[in-house]
Parts: sequence; structure tokens; C-alpha cells
Amino acid sequence: MKKSWITPEIRRKAQRILSGLSLEQKAGQMTQYDWGFNPINPDTGLSQRDMICEQIAQGLVGSVFNLAGAEEANRLQQLAVDNDGDGHGVPLLIGRDVIHGYRTVFPIPLAQASAWNPALAGATAAAASREALADGVAWVFAPMIDVSRDPRWGRIAESIGEDPLLASAYAEAWVNGSQVGSDNGDGNGSSPEVASCPKHYAGYGLAEAGRDYNTVDLSDRVLREVILPPFRKAVEAGALTIMASFNEVNGIPACANRYLLTTILREEWGFEGVVASDYNALQELITHGVAADEEEACLLSLRAGTDVDMASGIYIRHLPRLVREGKVPESLVDEAVLRILALKLKLGLFERPYVSPSEYATDSSLPAEHIALARQAARESIVLLHNEGDVLPLSKTTSSIAVIGPLADSFKDPLGCWAFDGRPDDVVSVLEGVRQAAASTAVVSYAKGCEVDGVSGSGWEESELAVALEVAGKADVIVLALGETFEMSGEARSRTNLDLPGGQRRLVEAVAQLGKPIVAVLLTGRPLAIPWLQDYADAIVQAWHLGVQSGHGIADVLFGDYNPSGRLTVTFPLNVGQVPIYYYRKKTGRPPGGVYTSYYLDSSTDPLYPFGFGLSYTSFHYGEIRCVNPQAALGESFDLSVEVSNTGSREGEEVVQIYIRDEAASVTQPLKKLVGFRKVKLGAGESIVVAFTLGADALAILDADMNVTVEPGDFTVWIGPSSAEGESVRLTVEAPAQ
Ligand code: GLC
Repeated sequence: MKKSWITPEIRRKAQRILSGLSLEQKAGQMTQYDWGFNPINPDTGLSQRDMICEQIAQGLVGSVFNLAGAEEANRLQQLAVDNDGDGHGVPLLIGRDVIHGYRTVFPIPLAQASAWNPALAGATAAAASREALADGVAWVFAPMIDVSRDPRWGRIAESIGEDPLLASAYAEAWVNGSQVGSDNGDGNGSSPEVASCPKHYAGYGLAEAGRDYNTVDLSDRVLREVILPPFRKAVEAGALTIMASFNEVNGIPACANRYLLTTILREEWGFEGVVASDYNALQELITHGVAADEEEACLLSLRAGTDVDMASGIYIRHLPRLVREGKVPESLVDEAVLRILALKLKLGLFERPYVSPSEYATDSSLPAEHIALARQAARESIVLLHNEGDVLPLSKTTSSIAVIGPLADSFKDPLGCWAFDGRPDDVVSVLEGVRQAAASTAVVSYAKGCEVDGVSGSGWEESELAVALEVAGKADVIVLALGETFEMSGEARSRTNLDLPGGQRRLVEAVAQLGKPIVAVLLTGRPLAIPWLQDYADAIVQAWHLGVQSGHGIADVLFGDYNPSGRLTVTFPLNVGQVPIYYYRKKTGRPPGGVYTSYYLDSSTDPLYPFGFGLSYTSFHYGEIRCVNPQAALGESFDLSVEVSNTGSREGEEVVQIYIRDEAASVTQPLKKLVGFRKVKLGAGESIVVAFTLGADALAILDADMNVTVEPGDFTVWIGPSSAEGESVRLTVEAPAQ
């Protein structure tokens, strides 16, 4: 466990500042406003921003978010800091949703996860924080580490996918990366200048029916086995804040859930940072029906452990009076305010409240190093799903390439969801990427073919389709750029249909009639259930929404300048009826088989593409798994190794994955559970021995009493290229001699 970042000196300074605050100013420190929401008050004629500025000058605001740039940040800080004594001089904490980049937009998190490269994600998080810091942002509302296994849920785009271990590895890297500081941010060093905010604590990704903001009902077991590990890892990595989720957890919405915010987060894990609510979540306690009015919502949230009220204004409106009426002890308020002040001291805001000049200021062009990073992240995020007859990689001297589809020339959609500070002008489209990569002799033509979500069969579309067929008809190979707009995933973007939207399928079927090689490039924020596509496309590339370097990353893969290494971190279903479908499902007493087993009358129970899956332009061979000690005493670890060889003709990267199953435990266990992975780069013909040590972390389960326990008995371990492949060995933990 990390040493406490609230040092005695920070605590002393915070307590001195706290002692000088009025009750109203204390409630103000616990209040955060959305600067981007600016209605006019009909009674006063004042805008929300006018009201916020007045309150800042009186020391009644602790934080604002959704500002627009350094100038505005400095202006508001000046109101807070030097306000001739009316206030208290405590600087504002300026927040922003920096989810996958700032001005340099990187691939959406679900794409970056597919790289199985947490260090790379840490680097993109650091780059994003440096750019945001140059605009005065000291609090990024990231990483989003909700385990999600429902592609209907639009926010799966923001997640790391379905696996707790992988999400934990990314959580740690993202927290450390995003908490940059003058010590170049290991996040836990002496001076981070940006605070991360792992979210949404907890369980938001299991919203029923994949419908955003919907009820979450999960056992303490699923909460602790699946949902909490990434958050615990984030806390251990030194996350300075946490955001509570909108949803209820076992009947109590997170911002009013003392079990989550105090018992687990603070008492069990020792978290010392600041807990913020999600947007207006205190107000929503009334809608949820757990608070009769704002006063009760205020009391429930404070008692549960919510320090900062995002956007509702309930704390500033009610806390001072409730304390004076004796309904809540001022000590509870003081504890929350002390954490907020300690955070601001830790971030150096008192010494440096204003934006300092930075090489990462992005009012002009993007930093070259960030563009290069964006291209590498785009390349590694791409997953090759299908490559019939090795139609990929394409030859750069292909004489004629048609780039067809509604996303081929899009500059906005590749930015993906949560890219407020991204600019379409900075984006390289698929068409542009192909044009720049192909040889100068190649003719690269383009036609849109249809709208992403247009209604098929409309008059306009007939002519558009006809143009596309004419263009495609003249080409040697066709690249189809298909998928979803940036607005079809992200918050409040759930879908019940996992097919290609609009008339895109019709476009595919029509183009396929031409009998030419087809490469389908899918730009989506979620898995789609489109098994039919591989009947028409010779190759399928899952290209997500890859950010500013989308077109170059895709072209690098299509032309073989980069051998795709991405592996899926979320199961792709055959159809939406299978959802939720994920690899670590339980065996049940009747595993899928014939009648009277857990199967469907009208569908296979297998996914379209399994967790961990991805193809390469080369081939890898796994040797026999070796284990020096297949029988080990309780408390000992198992040492395993396997030789992996690149048996193809070109360099490639393989994600070696190791899974385990406890064959007979006191509590049912998943069919498989990822317990480790290693991404290795091998030249043609090269081999490497990859070793794994399986200790208690991998072998332990939560027993019937929810205790972490390693139980004697047999385990099966697989090492392979995905959750659906790989040789296995049987290991035994021996019971202690009686
Ligand atoms: C939103 C999201 C959260 C975001 C916050 C501020 O509703 O749930 O992820 O950080 O509000 O924009």
C-alpha cells in the first residue's frame, strides 16, 4: 500500500486554511459547477456563469469544469485567489473529461485496451494531461474503468472491456500516466499537478439491458470479484480522487452508498483522496426515490462519504443550515473539506494557481511527439478479425483502390465519443490515410455509398449507391469504411440493435456483387454482431474510433507497414440475443449441449469472436507448457513456461495469455479466468520462452464467506493466443498433511 500522500505538512496547512473558512465557504469547497451549462435565471436575469463568478469571489465555489481554455481558467482563478479578502484565497480545482486525449485525441479506451499495452495507454494519458494542464485543467475525469460486457451499453466505448485483470492493469497505468507533474508524473511522486479520477465507482457497466443509467443489481460476490479489482488497483496506484456512479448498488445509489464510499473505499482500502459525485447525482437521489427532498439527499450523500457535489448545488444550498440545525456534525463537513484542501495543496495549486506557459499548449498545432504517439496507439488498437486468402496486407502498387463507405472521408467520427477538445481538422481520415500510403502510381477513388444511419431505399441513396458501384467497379480492390458515428456510442448512447446502422449492409451486399476483393474496416465504439459480413468481405479490420491518426494507423495496417497485434478485450456476440456474453462465464450444471442443457433453440452459444482474439500477418506456434512443479504445497507458487515461435515470414507481436480454472472449489468458478498476459515481438523464425508464476493472486478465490482463499485441489491452466485456444496443463495444490 502506498505511503500516505497527505503528509503531516499538508495536513497542517490544510487544517490552518480550514480554520479560516466560514460554514458557507466550507460547503463551497464541496461544490463543483459545470461552466458549460449557462442558463439565464428568469428571476434575476443573471446567467449561471454570472452567479458562479459572484460565488467564486465570495469563496463559495471549490471547483468548476468544462471551461474553455487557459485564459478563462486564469480569469476564474483570479476571482478565487485574490479577491481582496471577501473570499479566502483558496484556488479552484478545474476539471475536465479528458477521457482519451485532449486536443490530441487518441483511440477510445476500448480501442487502446485492444493493444494489451497498458504502458502505451499510460503514455497517452500523460500526453493528454500535459495538454489539459496547459489549459488550466488540474483534474481529469479519467480513467473510466467500469468492467463492461454489454455492447448495447454505449459507454462500453469508454471502458477497457470485460476483464477485471486487464482493466486493473490499465487502471494502474492510466492513473500513473495521467497524474503528471513536475516530476514527470509517476503519479505518486512528490508533485503531481493533475489528479486522476477513476470512474464510475461502482458497477455502472452492468446496467440492466445495456440501457444507460439503468438499475444495477449485483451480488457482493460479483461486486468484489469483477467490479472492484480495477478500482482497488487504481487506489493502490495512488489515484487522488474517485467518481461515484449514478447507479444504485444493491438498492442504494453510489453517492449515498456508505458501504461503497466509506466501508470499502476508505476503511478497507485506505483511500485518502476526494470522492466526487457524478453529474447532478445528489439531485437524482430524489428521482431514485431514496431521498424525499434535497435536504435528505444532502444528508445521505455527506454521511455516505461524497466530498464533492458535481453540478447539483445541493451542498451549498443546504449544508450550512443543516449543520446549524444540528442535523449533521460540522466535523463531517470538515473531514471532506480537509481532503479537498489537501488535494489542492498536493497539486501545488496554492503556489501555482495560474496556467504557466507550456510547450504543450495546443492553441496552434499538435505537439509532434503526441501525433507520433497517436499513430502508434492507433496501429496497436486495430484488431484483424478475418483475412481470407491473405488478401491483407495490400500491395502499395495496387493500381486502383476504391475507398467506399459513409465513414471513409469522415473527419469527426474517428474522434469518437468524449473528444470535446478534439478538432476534425486534426484528423486523418481513412481515405486520406490510404491515399498517402499507396504508391503515387495508384489510383485511389472514393464514394460515400450511403449514410451511416440513412434510411435505405430513399431516392437519394439509390443514386449514391449507383455512384459507389460505378467507382468500385473500376478498382482492383475495395476498402469499405463502415460502422457507427461518434454519436452512436458514449454516454446516453445505448442501442438495442448491434447491426451496422442504416443502409450499410445493403451497400456491402451490392458491392460484393462486383466480385472484387473487399476489405471491410469497421469504425465503431462497440462490438457489432455482424456474422454475415465475413460472407461478403475477404478481410475484416476492427478499427474502432482511433482519434486524430485514424487514417494513418488504418493504412499502416492495410498496407502492412504495421502487422496488426490487437486482441479483443470484449466478446463479440453472434447476435444481440446472446447478450450479456463474456468469456469468464460459469460452467453451470448443464453446460451448453443438446436438449435440456443451457442452450438456445435458434442460436449457437458461441460468440462471433472470443475475448483475446485477433489475427496477424504472421503465424505463431506455442510449444508444450512446462511446469517444474505441477504439484505444489498450499502457499507455494507454480512456475510455468512456454516457448512461442514466429513461424511466419515477417515480424509480429503476439499477446500470450494465461487463463486458469479451479476445477472443484467451494464456490462455483468461471470456466476460465485471465491471470496474466505478455505482449512479445518476434522476428520471422524467432522464438522466446515466456514464463509465468502463478501465486495466490492467481489461485485464490472468494470462498463462501467472502474470504480470499487458496483451496487445495486441481487447477487447469491454459496458455494461448485467446480465451478460446491454447494447450493446457493440470496443476494440483496439495492439501496440508492432516
Ligand atoms: C457525465 C458522466 C461522467 C462525466 C461527468 C462530467 O454525466 O457520467 O463520466 O465525467 O458527467 O461530464
